[in-house]
Amino acid sequence: MTPFWPPEVTSAANSQKIVLGFESSCDETGVALCTTDGRILGQALYSQIAMHKDYGGVVPELASRDHIRRLIPLMNETFEQAGIALQDVDAIAVTTGPGLPGALMAGCAFAYSLAMGLNLPVIPVHHLEGHLLSPLLSSNPPAFPFTALLVSGGHTQLMGVEGLGRYTLLGETLDDAAGEAFDKTAKMIGLPYPGGPALSRLAESGNAERFKLPRPMLHSGDFMFSFSGLKTAVLTTAMKLAGVSQPNETMAISDTDKTDLAASFQAAIVETLVKKALAACLQQDHKRLVVAGGVGANKLLREQLVKAARKRGVEVYFPELSLCTDNGAMIAFAGAMQLAKNPALLDARDYGMRTRPRCELATPMEI
Ligand code: KG4
Ligand code: ZN
Repeated sequence: MTPFWPPEVTSAANSQKIVLGFESSCDETGVALCTTDGRILGQALYSQIAMHKDYGGVVPELASRDHIRRLIPLMNETFEQAGIALQDVDAIAVTTGPGLPGALMAGCAFAYSLAMGLNLPVIPVHHLEGHLLSPLLSSNPPAFPFTALLVSGGHTQLMGVEGLGRYTLLGETLDDAAGEAFDKTAKMIGLPYPGGPALSRLAESGNAERFKLPRPMLHSGDFMFSFSGLKTAVLTTAMKLAGVSQPNETMAISDTDKTDLAASFQAAIVETLVKKALAACLQQDHKRLVVAGGVGANKLLREQLVKAARKRGVEVYFPELSLCTDNGAMIAFAGAMQLAKNPALLDARDYGMRTRPRCELATPMEI
């Protein structure tokens, strides 16, 4: 692998501007190069799943340290793939929030220092905007406007999207995010981290009708969600099956019970997401529904959404599976789209780094 400094001299790919993007908000380190006409020239990703597995979840300090280790090798790999060099880059995009404070600091400190050293502008990117725009990178991208269902480990939101940067929050979860509910439920029934994919794999062979689990707020008449009661219902069902009066780490329930519980849980969460997402889309008078975030990889959610949407004349758009979970491409792309919309960003030189571990993307809907 060639060192990233000093940069090799090559010619720029074309007249389009090139954005180098970094993602490090949680447990994936992602780097990518994207042009202002939306082409990904190269990308590299490292997932820390194996490192966090033994702890049953993300250990923030380990995550931060690992991002520092991975950023330069991943960046070198990205440039090698793209066949260009650092001095071909016109701007640097980086996730500034929301996310784990230390993890964000690792990526931002690197991106801002690099930008300063190269005298390049920094484009701060909201992590959720990266997810939200990721379906635009697919072979069949949606046109604006659309309703977006953002379902990740930290967020569950419905958003009205009129155009780039024009986002209205229609509703969100009052407690756990959908991904969080998947992860916590998976842990409860003894599945390894990250629980979402493991639970959905198990659920495929289960009987989703066996346990009658609640669909909280399904008929609330708004676009809010709540998943903590559903999680508690799984816990009390598991305790009953194990014959224990207190939850414990080693609740002995049979494989069939686990499989049916996983399927029943998944059916409850998917039904709620599908109904509310469709209702929001119709209320907004949108013909397109976009799904983004890690839970967007869920097979049942994809199938049920497409089925329900077809009946209402709505088309559903998903990111490529590999772009559902965190990655650098969506951040480089969001930065490139901002730059394409506002070329004056090229002249900005604000190196006052501000990470925003908690921050909103959209303004709430007026009611
Ligand atoms: O968007 P993401 O990579 O990270 C955040 O920004 O949070 O989403 C990760 C979440 C995790 O909670 C993970 O369990 C969930 O997405 N997830 C899934 C599936 N694949 C990932 N949940 C359900 N079914 C899946 N197939
Ligand atoms: Zn994410």
